[in-house]
Amino acid sequence: MQIKSAKFFTSAKGASDCPTWELPEFAFIGRSNVGKSSVINMITSKKGLAKVSSTPGKTRMLNFFVMNENWSLVDLPGYGFAKGPRSEKIDFNEQVGNYIEQRTNLQMMFVLIDARREPQKIDIAFTSWLSATGVPFTLVFTKTDKQSAAKTTANAELFLETLTEAVGVDPNAIASSSKTGDGRKEILAAIGQVLDA
Ligand code: GTP
Ligand code: MG
Repeated sequence: MQIKSAKFFTSAKGASDCPTWELPEFAFIGRSNVGKSSVINMITSKKGLAKVSSTPGKTRMLNFFVMNENWSLVDLPGYGFAKGPRSEKIDFNEQVGNYIEQRTNLQMMFVLIDARREPQKIDIAFTSWLSATGVPFTLVFTKTDKQSAAKTTANAELFLETLTEAVGVDPNAIASSSKTGDGRKEILAAIGQVLDA
């Protein structure tokens, strides 16, 4: 699986103004600041493609990128943080929820989890909700360069155990670092598998 071209296409506010194409889509979600935009830049090898910021809440819209002119990556706003009024925050999460529930060409979600933390309620709650939608998903444990591999493995195992206990699912999991490129091959292979199926 190779990315030969990666281009920004458009930003949408919600399900109603997304592109009308039928391209297979792969969307990235997770808490604000977990590294969604950074992972997109890492797997496309294009540093400034998705906007990255150390301030949480940078990505406020659904951003669509076209790969190899025939499939799409979507950078979603994070959950758990939004600047602005409370009503905007709620509306925003609802928009992302609508996108996930309604988008028929959405093939798979990558749910990003900070590898440095023990399972967080909000991540378990989101992943449980996502399981119920039936949209296939893969977990990506991010920022692994910041700690030992043993710590990453321990937190990932704990997360999977907690999720299995909560909703009885045991999704695939990938460890990644946007700094070192770890996980790039695995994420691209997961996408390639769906595209080739
Ligand atoms: P929002 O759009 O605000 O929800 O954030 P996001 O999930 O898109 O995170 P983003 O990619 O903007 O990264 C947030 C911060 O974490 C930035 O300062 C990144 O440089 C940093 N970061 C992201 N991934 C990694 C990583 O793998 N390793 C390290 N060391 N830093 C990372
Ligand atoms: Mg972002």
